[in-house]
Amino acid sequence: MDFKKYVADVPDFPEPGILFRDISPLMYNGKVYEAATNEIVEYAKNLDTEMIVGPEARGFIVGCPVAYKLGVGFAPARKKGKLPRETISVSYDLEYGQASLYMQKDAVQLGQRVLVVDDLMATGGTLAATIKLVEELGGIVVGTAFLIELTDLHGRDKIKDYDMFTLMKY
Ligand code: PRP
Ligand code: ADE
Repeated sequence: MDFKKYVADVPDFPEPGILFRDISPLMYNGKVYEAATNEIVEYAKNLDTEMIVGPEARGFIVGCPVAYKLGVGFAPARKKGKLPRETISVSYDLEYGQASLYMQKDAVQLGQRVLVVDDLMATGGTLAATIKLVEELGGIVVGTAFLIELTDLHGRDKIKDYDMFTLMKY
């Protein structure tokens, strides 16, 4: 399937100079959303994935259906002030700005095999931060999966030691 047909390219969003890759058309189409999900599900099965972790917010959109299809749990890595119980956190740089991510301390079990899932990797900052959280909680990051990788930003260099699956490269 030509998944790129279902990504809208939006120049100068959210600020001048950024070419935003919008996955909304893919999500709006049930068959395409399912096909994209299945690609990540197949990758996850080969890794004996026990848990999916996805960063807020688009990581939920891509990660939750993968977890559901595998019959494993989903744990969110959330932005500041969202999680009600004890958390750990990490700060990181984005393609546009700075951010922090938080996870609840009981989100991942010691030795659990975790796949980190998001819609897109740009600088890799979000991914590196999410991996750090999972590992601090005692999880084993067995792989990472995205719909889109922006190769020019060299996010892969930040996470050389981890396996990565991407559906589309730009
Ligand atoms: C976007 C995207 C990734 C991240 C990628 O999320 O969904 O999580 O940026 O960029 P990076 O590789 O440079 O870290 P954003 O923080 O914009 O949040 P959203 O999903 O809530 O829109
Ligand atoms: N997140 C970070 N950079 C992005 C981009 N260029 N398009 C969509 N989401 C992004």
